Amino acid sequence: MEKDFVPTQNLVYPLEGTVGWKAPSNIALVKYWGKKPHQIPANPSISFTLDASATRTFLKFRRMDEAKEAFSFDFRFEGKAKDSFKPKIATFLGRIETYLPFLRHYHLEIESSNSFPHSSGIASSASGMAALALCLLELERLANPEMTLEDFKQKASFLARLGSGSACRSIGGSLIQWGSTPGLSGSSDLYGIPYPYEVHPNFNNFHDTILLVHKGQKTVSSSVGHGLMKGHPFADNRFQQAHENLKKLRPIFKEGDLESFIAIVESEALTLHAMMMTSQPYFILMLPNTLEIINRIWQFRKETGTAICFTLDAGANVHVLYPESEKTKCIQFIQNELVAYCENGHYICDRIGKGAQRISTSL
Ligand code: DP6
Repeated sequence: MEKDFVPTQNLVYPLEGTVGWKAPSNIALVKYWGKKPHQIPANPSISFTLDASATRTFLKFRRMDEAKEAFSFDFRFEGKAKDSFKPKIATFLGRIETYLPFLRHYHLEIESSNSFPHSSGIASSASGMAALALCLLELERLANPEMTLEDFKQKASFLARLGSGSACRSIGGSLIQWGSTPGLSGSSDLYGIPYPYEVHPNFNNFHDTILLVHKGQKTVSSSVGHGLMKGHPFADNRFQQAHENLKKLRPIFKEGDLESFIAIVESEALTLHAMMMTSQPYFILMLPNTLEIINRIWQFRKETGTAICFTLDAGANVHVLYPESEKTKCIQFIQNELVAYCENGHYICDRIGKGAQRISTSL
């Protein structure tokens, strides 16, 4: 329950200091699209945690003599003051204040940078909000060093969700499930959990090459898209389908059945975009090159039998997924046939990762 995340002890918080965290992005296999109030997802989702695409955040904190009415913080992104991000951060701080009641007593200097190129069209809210949540929670941990690692990660995921839903899947583990799921003990709408069942080695070191078809801003934000699932004519069926796909994935992960994995992952990606095309107002985020890439992948898979597939987030970029055993063939195919469809030939070679890491700030 939410109230379990409110600190109950009387803690003595530090006067000042600096903490740092690096949090990865993630790519959903079963998509979160549609939400209820307070960042509760309309359906459960599951994602691969990424490795190379990440946000590094440092938080410098200094206790003030008196609590301020408004949150006192500065935000710098890639070395420059970025005031346009401040309202989003202020909203986030407001949402998590009940769970980190010391926030108004500090002046915070937040300094963030992304490993992936700025405005590459890659969702930075997941890694960004996860890294910030981890830094803020680290401040509580300094006052309460007895907090277990498990409790720390669970609360970090809980807080990150309040910043951006998908951010709760960017904390710990390589395959993360978020959303209450009947029969999956420990699952919750409030935070992500490491997938608790067996996963076949076929999924170890899985690759995600992100093809940057369009590097600019999306025409419709995810928040607007989520909102359009309210009253959407296909919403109930879609939410049910997500549950079914998660159920189907269980034996697929266990047995390493790549063919069935591909069928679910690609269908999820296209369903996500189908929801956008059938909402009111309707919109399309895929671009002609998105479709060119998808068709090329299908053709290559048909001709060679390679276990390669695609997924999409809420944009035009294509995530190309393939197992370690197919790496050489796939990279060659991507370079020869797909990179031509990327904006300025840009793409990111990523793979499944292990989750967020604390950055040492002792030097
Ligand atoms: C298509 O997590 O960005 O990437 O909770 O409003 O911040 P907010 O939305 P966000 O939505 C992500 C949508 C998605 C699918 C997914 O990651 O599951």
